Amino acid sequence: MHRKIMDISKRRGIMYPSFEIYGGVSGFYDYGPVGSRIKQNIESLIRNYYVIDEECLEVECPTLSPEAVWIASGHVGNFTDLMTECLKCGEAYRSDHLIEEHLKKSCEGMHISQLNDLIEKNRIKCPKCGGNLGKIYNYNLMFQTFVGPGKNKESAYLRPETAQTTYLAFRRLWEAARKKLPFGVIQIGRSFRNEISPRQGMVRLREFNQAEIQFFVEPDRKSVENFDEVSKIKTRVVTKDDKEFDMSLESAVKKGIMKVQMIAYFLGRSLQLFERMGINPKALKLRQHKDEERAFYSTDTWDIEYISKIFGKIELVGISDRTDYDLKAHMNLSKQDLTVSYEGKKFIPHVIEIAYGIDRPFYCVIESCYREEGDRTFFKFPKEISPYRTGIFPLVRKDNLPEKARAVFELMKKERIHAFYDQTGSIGKRYARADEIGIPECVTIDYETIEDNTVTLRDRDTKKQIRVKIDELTMYLMNKM
Ligand code: GAP
Repeated sequence: MHRKIMDISKRRGIMYPSFEIYGGVSGFYDYGPVGSRIKQNIESLIRNYYVIDEECLEVECPTLSPEAVWIASGHVGNFTDLMTECLKCGEAYRSDHLIEEHLKKSCEGMHISQLNDLIEKNRIKCPKCGGNLGKIYNYNLMFQTFVGPGKNKESAYLRPETAQTTYLAFRRLWEAARKKLPFGVIQIGRSFRNEISPRQGMVRLREFNQAEIQFFVEPDRKSVENFDEVSKIKTRVVTKDDKEFDMSLESAVKKGIMKVQMIAYFLGRSLQLFERMGINPKALKLRQHKDEERAFYSTDTWDIEYISKIFGKIELVGISDRTDYDLKAHMNLSKQDLTVSYEGKKFIPHVIEIAYGIDRPFYCVIESCYREEGDRTFFKFPKEISPYRTGIFPLVRKDNLPEKARAVFELMKKERIHAFYDQTGSIGKRYARADEIGIPECVTIDYETIEDNTVTLRDRDTKKQIRVKIDELTMYLMNKM
């Protein structure tokens, strides 16, 4: 299945490894002309939900920031993975992943000395050349660089998360939010992590896209008024001590499994967003981070994981209670006051963070929507995700049909309906091409069109065809969004 998906993706301009003509570099992927549209639709879905429904402010900050930012945030000291290198061929491995693959059991939360012992006792060697492995050490995942030339150049890092850059302008955001809590700030953009030997295609990238929302809240008010809008959602819940339940978000909160109601609320909203994207809800579960796994800045983190047929568990979003960790850290190092005076109290706001990746949901949309029916393959993308709303095809390239089809295409443009014009090859081949990029409905201009100004509208999923008047086509397509 993976091979088939990747084959269509490359052929149809959905996604493909970057720098292919120079042999490629693992951890980098291009979005092609079709994939870019799908990615933007995924981003828009998240953006519109948070900006419109949750009234978040949106910001965009640089991807490169001075060292001080990452010293204060703790990333220079703590943003590490455990690494071992082959003493013979030099190949690098994430030691926990290597041991897990070898022993087929989790070594989550184990200390360096325990992992070194496991490698020694189980005689784990380099999978590539069979050489001995060196001692495990902490490897920092950030890409370091310098700003400016010559002796005065300054050390800087590409951001490994968008979150920190949002925190830095907190004072300005506080003003923009009219000095009221809670308020949310969304940032959508690129982040960078120099991952050790990424081998899972789009799932583990060195340059990737995030949509991260920081909700600034009062330290003792981490609840939401409209929790009942998601409280009945039932799903699989895995707690930090590995207990699994099928339960509603309401019971998870009532039973104290989810201690922060706001986290439960945004887990529910995220499940709804993923379902709207076309991700199979049955393949999703909520998982709480174990104490030893949780990031240094968080007191409680819940992920939504997708169980992929190809890659196993994929973390799509992490929702954390970051407390006042980050604002306090920046306040201490920058010596700027990041406290607020609110309702008679002076304090540093706490942060509830909803951290989405974009590339992983993108991959899961592709995997979830892929269909094979006989010799037909297609992507059953929801309309708001599909790269084009419709395809416009003249039945044949003669008898004035292309001219008529172009006129219908121009009509679509005028109405801002994103359409795909294609007059190459047989109509069957064009339908197959449209199916392979998941266009929900295609319009064919045929001989009847010349007579009565109607067109054929063919549905991707059922292959059923109906006739629609050109005059009513735009309304029809817009209403069926
Ligand atoms: N600000 C918090 C944060 O960055 P994270 O769990 O490390 O938390 C958030 O990242 C999301 O970013 C993940 O759930 C995942 O979807 C995405 N992500 C993280 N590392 C990634 C990588 N190497 N490649 C692709 N996506 C990644």
